[in-house]
Parts: sequence; structure tokens; C-alpha cells
Amino acid sequence: MPVAEPLTRTQPPVAVLTRQDPRAPAARLLEHGSVLLLPDRDFDTSAFAGALFADVAADGAKTVSYDPTTGELKGAAASEATRARLTAAVATYARWAEALVGELLPGYAASLQLRRTSWRPRSADHNLSKRKDDRRLHVDAFPANPVQGRRILRVFRNVNPDGESRDWRLGEPFADLAGRFLPTAQPLAPAAGALLQRLGITKGRRTAYDQLMLQLHDQAKDSDAYQASAPHWDVSFPPGATWLVFTDAVVHAALGGRYAFEQTFYLPIEAMEDQAASPLRTLERLTGRALV
Ligand code: SIN
Ligand code: FE
Repeated sequence: MPVAEPLTRTQPPVAVLTRQDPRAPAARLLEHGSVLLLPDRDFDTSAFAGALFADVAADGAKTVSYDPTTGELKGAAASEATRARLTAAVATYARWAEALVGELLPGYAASLQLRRTSWRPRSADHNLSKRKDDRRLHVDAFPANPVQGRRILRVFRNVNPDGESRDWRLGEPFADLAGRFLPTAQPLAPAAGALLQRLGITKGRRTAYDQLMLQLHDQAKDSDAYQASAPHWDVSFPPGATWLVFTDAVVHAALGGRYAFEQTFYLPIEAMEDQAASPLRTLERLTGRALV
């Protein structure tokens, strides 16, 4: 029988920031678990509409992914001409997201690391394994890309041309998720981090922190009981909405929606206003040991 969970949250953790609130404490809100929703920012897709909304199949991949440091585009099965226009669109979004973060989060600017950009043309795929299914509540952790304690900050934008929202579900605070699943998390085997790196399975060394984050991700997605009974709030992001979120700590699921951009940044926790709010420090407190 499902047991009622004590609610430590009474409303969805979404903070709305309009252009009229230029001095809002964006970093503090994000660091303490809010999704920052910007309803009135402009990003014009009209110059790219042909390439974006043509039927660009994502080539078996969930998303089209772009590396702004090399200019390489992956996952788009399309003609060379369409690929070139798609690359231009995604590169434009990467620059736009970088400028936005520079404006809203000046304290992070010197430390933020620009990572991949993605184009998400399709709605959630129904044929995925539980662990790959982002319609299930989770925190982000990347099996092949250890972050070694750095934060994962993502900037999303819904550019759907048909009025369709992107629908998310937001969950409980990170510490609650961690308290629930840490007791059954498998620790990293001794020397496993070095071995995974040498075999090329991970880019960089998987740390004890990365291992625990992967375990939280996997256990949450694997658990039908958690998915059915964990506290959650459903939130719709309409076309034209932009939202920023630390997806390593905000429990989230993408229920549906087509045509969104996303830009990923890594942030060393030393650049946070309050490191104690990071998942690294939270997990170190809960386990009583250093994890990187
Ligand atoms: C996710 O990070 O779980 C997916 C978010 C999205 O595509 O909207
Ligand atoms: Fe996610």
C-alpha cells in the first residue's frame, strides 16, 4: 500500500522572471532548486524555419546534438544543405543562451563551461528502456561524461510553431530523493573509475560522486513505485518560454512536447553563491565522506 510522503514542498519550484525584474536573485533561486522561467524573452527562429520544422529525423538519436567548440552536428539525418542550415540555427541558439546566462548570472560568467547544444524535434519516444525514458522523474547524470562534482546548468527554449507546450513534471527536493535512494546505491568499485577511463567508456574519471548521481538517476527511473507515488507537480512551458534549471538537482521529467532547444553548461561549485546547496556537498553531508 502506498505510504503518504511528508511533503516538504507545497508548490512547484518555478520562479517566474520577467524583463521587469532585472535584479532578481537568479543564482540564488537556481541554486536552491527553482526552475527559472523567463516568459518574455525573444529568440527569432523565422530565418531557420525551413531547416528546423522540416521533417529532420533525429537519426535514431533522441536529439540532434551540436558541439559549439568544434562545430560538429550529430544525429540529424538530412541533406547537406539542411544540415548546414540546422547547424547555423543551433549555433545561433548556443550564442543566444550564452549571452542570456551572462546577463542573468554574471557571478558565474568567468567559470561557466560551455558544453553541448541540442535540438529536440520529436516528442518523447515511447519505446525506450526505463533508464533512457526522460518521461520518468530523475536527476541528470551522464554515464560517459563524469562531471566530477560540477553542476549541470541547462537553458531550454520551446520554439514550437503550432502552439504546443513542452510539458514537464517537477519532483521533490534533491535531499529527499537522495535520502530515499542512497541507502541502496551501489558504491564505485575500487579502481573502477580509472579502468572505465582507460577503456574509453568514460571521458575523464568517474568519481564516487558521479557513481552516486548515476545510481540516483537509475534507481529513480527504475522504480515504478517512485514514479507513481513521489510528490510531483506538472508544469507546461508554452511556445516562446525559456527556462533555466540545474538538472542535476531538480527532480524532473519531460512528459511531452516537440521542437525545443537546449544548451548545457558545467559550473564548478566554487563559483556558486552557496556551495552547500550543491548535490556534491549534499551527498557528502549525507554519506559523511569526500566524494571527489
Ligand atoms: C530531460 O532532461 O530529462 C529532458 C528535458 C526535455 O527534453 O525537455
Ligand atoms: Fe533530464
